[in-house]
Amino acid sequence: MPEIASRQHYQVIGSLFSLLMERCKKNIHEIDAVAVARGPGLLGSLLVGMAFGKMTALLAEASFIGINHLHAHLLAATINVRADFPFLGVLISGGHTNLYRANDLKNFELLGQTIDDAVGETFDKVGTMLGLAYPAGREIDCMACAGEPGAFHFPRPYLGNAGLNFSFSGLKTAVATHIRNFRDDSTEPDFLQNTCASFNKAVSDTICAKIDQALREHADLKTLVLAGGAASNRMLRKDIHALCERHGKRFLPAPMSLCTDNAVMIAYLGCQLAKNGWKHDLHAEAIPRGKPIPDDMLSAGVPPQ
Ligand code: KG4
Ligand code: ZN
Repeated sequence: MPEIASRQHYQVIGSLFSLLMERCKKNIHEIDAVAVARGPGLLGSLLVGMAFGKMTALLAEASFIGINHLHAHLLAATINVRADFPFLGVLISGGHTNLYRANDLKNFELLGQTIDDAVGETFDKVGTMLGLAYPAGREIDCMACAGEPGAFHFPRPYLGNAGLNFSFSGLKTAVATHIRNFRDDSTEPDFLQNTCASFNKAVSDTICAKIDQALREHADLKTLVLAGGAASNRMLRKDIHALCERHGKRFLPAPMSLCTDNAVMIAYLGCQLAKNGWKHDLHAEAIPRGKPIPDDMLSAGVPPQ
């Protein structure tokens, strides 16, 4: 409900900021830069953040930086560990399933993306079919750990396609048909756990097949960074880790606590960009989902660190 989401942002952002300053024991003039999620996302919520961030930057006489939410997810994996560019970025969230060649802090080359549902979205829709609460990714993950991944066979969609794009809507339909077929069969033991495990395995195999292809096509990339809400999925982490070992690549997943949307990742990428002399002027706009984010950062004249 975009309207409700943006109203709630508006209601809490002021008191949240006061609380933050109080907890950090800082005053507004100690702020050097203000980083704000600029997009992609729900426009109403982004506008609240952008307006608040611009005002704070003005009051603090600090620089202002609008952050690409998707890039920030990936950089969250490098908060405690140094990752050298270029790396293969695998972003799996509720709205996106993107493979990137990350060349530097500002240059993320999109290699492939989903043509329909995102990974997290597929988990959520399958969860609804199974009667689980939204968002269902975490619960399916837990159920899957108690089930047998080979119990049922689901398709590994879009693997015949030569490119690096994904498609998950066929898998979703296959799970819906499977649930219909078994609905009246109360004798099937561990139906829920086995369905979750088999579905999770189909998602994992599909993602691994495309990563495998990307690593072969971009053999110079030495590190794989995994991030986004669905990156906390245990089966996915384990399978992608094993794949990296087979390729002799370094596996760098975002810490579990920083996989789902969070402000730390926005601040961290903002900090890295500011240290390298980048900022926006106050004309920078919020970018809704589906629109490309312009490359309109300005050099603040600070020598790169
Ligand atoms: O990155 P995120 O917090 O929000 C977006 O930017 O989209 O991702 C949220 C998504 C939801 O669809 C949720 O079901 C999924 O991440 N998710 C998971 C798990 N934890 C969260 N999916 C699979 N396994 C999980 N453990
Ligand atoms: Zn996100």
